[in-house]
Order: sequence, then C-alpha cells, then structure tokens
Amino acid sequence: KNGNTWSGRFDEPVSELVQRYTASVGFDRRLAEYDIQGSLAHARMLSGAGIIDEHDLAAIESGLGQIRDEIRNGEFVWLLELEDVHLNIEKRLTTLIGDAGKRLHTARSRNDQVATDVRLYLRAAIDDIIGLIHSMQRALLELAEQHVDTVMPGFTHLQVAQPVVFGHHLMAYFEMLKRDVERLSDCRRRMNKLPLGAAALAGTSYPINRKAVAQQLGFDGVCENSLDAVSDRDFAIEFCAAAALIMTHLSRLSEELILWMNPSFGFIDLADRFCTGSSIMPQKKNPDVPELVRGKTGRVNGHLVALLTLMKGQPLAYNKDNQEDKEPLFDTVETLTDTLRIYADMLTGVRVNRDAMRAAAMRGYATATDLADYLTKKGLPFREAHEAVARAVRFADGSARDLSALTLPELQEFSRLIDGDIYAVLTLEGSIDSRDHIGGTAPAQVRTAIKRARKWLS
Ligand code: ARG
Repeated sequence: KNGNTWSGRFDEPVSELVQRYTASVGFDRRLAEYDIQGSLAHARMLSGAGIIDEHDLAAIESGLGQIRDEIRNGEFVWLLELEDVHLNIEKRLTTLIGDAGKRLHTARSRNDQVATDVRLYLRAAIDDIIGLIHSMQRALLELAEQHVDTVMPGFTHLQVAQPVVFGHHLMAYFEMLKRDVERLSDCRRRMNKLPLGAAALAGTSYPINRKAVAQQLGFDGVCENSLDAVSDRDFAIEFCAAAALIMTHLSRLSEELILWMNPSFGFIDLADRFCTGSSIMPQKKNPDVPELVRGKTGRVNGHLVALLTLMKGQPLAYNKDNQEDKEPLFDTVETLTDTLRIYADMLTGVRVNRDAMRAAAMRGYATATDLADYLTKKGLPFREAHEAVARAVRFADGSARDLSALTLPELQEFSRLIDGDIYAVLTLEGSIDSRDHIGGTAPAQVRTAIKRARKWLS
C-alpha cells in the first residue's frame, strides 16, 4: 500500500519513475507561503460558515503557523511521495493537529487551491517587479539628466542619421519601461480574482462565502465561472508576454551598450564589476552582463511560447498539463527580477565619453537633413532640396570634409538659396536646438521630458 492520499482506490503504488515524473514539489514549494495564506483564509471562512468548528480553526491556525516557521527556517521535510506543495503541507498539518487538519480540505480541491496560490504568487511578483522597474527608471533619469546636451549621432539602419542628445536617447527607454509598467498593472488587475470556491471544477455543495475569502486575500472579486477558474492560465501567459517585452527592451539597450563599448564607437565604458576578462587574451574586457541579458531574453521568450503551447490543446476544465505552467513562470519571474536588479546598478556605473560621441556625430553628415530643411524653408520643394543636398554630401565626401567645412561658394554651387546664415544650421547644436517641440531632441524639451518622467514616477 502506498502512502498516497487517494490510495484506497488503488491496487498498486505508482512506480518510482512515475512518482518522480508526476511530482512537482521540487519547484512548487516556492508557493508555500501563498498556500498557507490561502489555507488560512479558507479555514476562517469554513469556520465562519459553520462548516468546521472554532476548535478546529484554532488548531489549523496554530498548525499552519508552525509549518510556516518550519519552512522559513529550512526545517520542513519535503517528501517527493507527497507529490506537491499542497499535499506536503496538508500532511504535515494532520501530523501536527490530527483530525482538524483533515477537515481543512473540505469544500476545496487542489485545482482551485493551486490556481489561487499561483495568482497570489504572481501578484506579489508583479508588485516587486514594478518596484524594480521604477528603480531602473530612476537610474535612467539620473543619467539622462547629466546628458541633456551631450551630442551623439542618432542612428537609423545603424548608420548616422541625425544628431540627438544622449539624454533623449536614454529617455526613449524610460518610455518603453513606462508602458511595461502599465502592461503589468493591467495584467495584475485582471488576475486579481479569487478562484477558490470553484473546488474541482463545478463548485461545491457547502454553504461557502467566496467573497469573504476574496476580501481576506486582497482579491478584487471572485472568478465568476468555476470551470474557467480552475482551468485557464491566461493570467500567467499575459504576465509572460509582458515579461518578454520587458526583456526585449532590456535586450535592445544591452545591444547598444555592447556596441557603444566597442572601441570603434568608444561612447561609453561599463564599470569593471559588470565585465569579465578572457582566459587567453590579456587585453580583454568583455561586456558579459549585457550579453547575458540579451541571451536570457531568448529564454524568457521561450517560456511565453511554452505556456501558450501548454494551454492550446486543453479541454475544460483542469488537466495535469497545468502543473507544467510553474517552471516557465518561476524562471520568468526570477530571470526578470535579477535582470532588472542588475540593470539599475549597471546604469549607475556607465561612464560616458562625450568627445567620442560628438566626433561620431560629426563624421556622418548628420546635419544633411537640416540643410535640406533650410532650402525648403527658402521656397525650394523638399524633393529638390533633398537632391541638392545629396549632391553636396557627395562632393564633401570626396574631400573627406563635413558639410560645415565647405566654403560658402562651394555650398552655393548646389543652390543659390544658400547664404552665410547656413553655418548656424549646419552645426550639431543648431540641428538639435531646432527640434524644439514635445517629443523632440532639443535640450529644453529633454529637460521637460525628464520633469514629466519624475512626476510620473512619484
Ligand atoms: N500540483 C498540481 C498543479 O500544479 C496541483 C493540482 C493537482 N490537481 C489534480 N487534480 N491532480 O497543477
């Protein structure tokens, strides 16, 4: 006879391999705190509804309190043959308090129990992650503030396009992270509904009070269909989608840090504590941390696809397939949390080489558009101005000079409309200052953007 909870129905125990294959306690013990929280709320409701008496409730409360301490102190003995976190805790409770422990599972199933635990876990994780995104945003703001007039080339196709200030570039990431926070908050709001009460799938015949449980656990309401409550994991999928986007944003920034740190760019240097050397090449300083962020993004994207695939073939209601939601979900939370934590710190260690940024902006005819706009403002149709400037760039490139290094007669070869006032337009600062509208790169606008961002953060 095996020790399983349902052993009365079975003639033979499962094999050791099946036991190992079906067990989830190795990873779902991360849910222990939430499982206890959920059980306490459930037990209080059972007692309030007269389904168990107050002596049972008192015993359950003290037993679960002791178990919580045992788990926190690392004294709790997890048993594989008890399959998962729920049965491990319940069994221990019964050992501690006897029959009262056996009454806890009245009007409940592991199906609504686990759906509740995962929501509680994820809700706490989201709160944590939003806090970490805010820290990273603060680090971005601080760096942006120091560089509201640090000129760098803006790129399209990774070719020099138009000059921008570095602060503006950094604030682009602030905006992405702002939307990421909104996505997480949105996901949290939809997720914050109580599954308990759905029991196995159809609800329960006991006079339960779901709203009381929801209120105790800080849910905004109850799941309104019992089949849906135990079977869907869309909230976890939504979270993983939001997480994949956050990682994608961080991966893009990482790619830029890696490029900028390359001596051919030389825009920035990362603090040594985020880099490693090479075992063979003594001169190397490699940007391992941003490279790993880029790499781990693949892993988080993979978890999203894993969960979508897990869900797509499941008939209603609960299926054991859903046990497979946990490892991708936990790994997503842990990878994202670590990444955000490390990123906030890494940004404070970025050293900027203003001269290199400026020199790079000087090299790629970054103000060519400004010259075309100048001609257009003097009456030339934009397409013709574009063509005239293209010829001027070709000419300047022939003698390896910037447009601003051409003499006035040379420039006038390309258009009679060009005058001495052109040189103010062709400078990097002239170009940047002229983009003076909301969302533009003019330092005055970037300062306002930073102010708006501070307000949003607070
Ligand atoms: N460990 C299971 C899970 O994660 C708990 C629910 C099991 N329910 C069941 N009927 N087998 O989904």
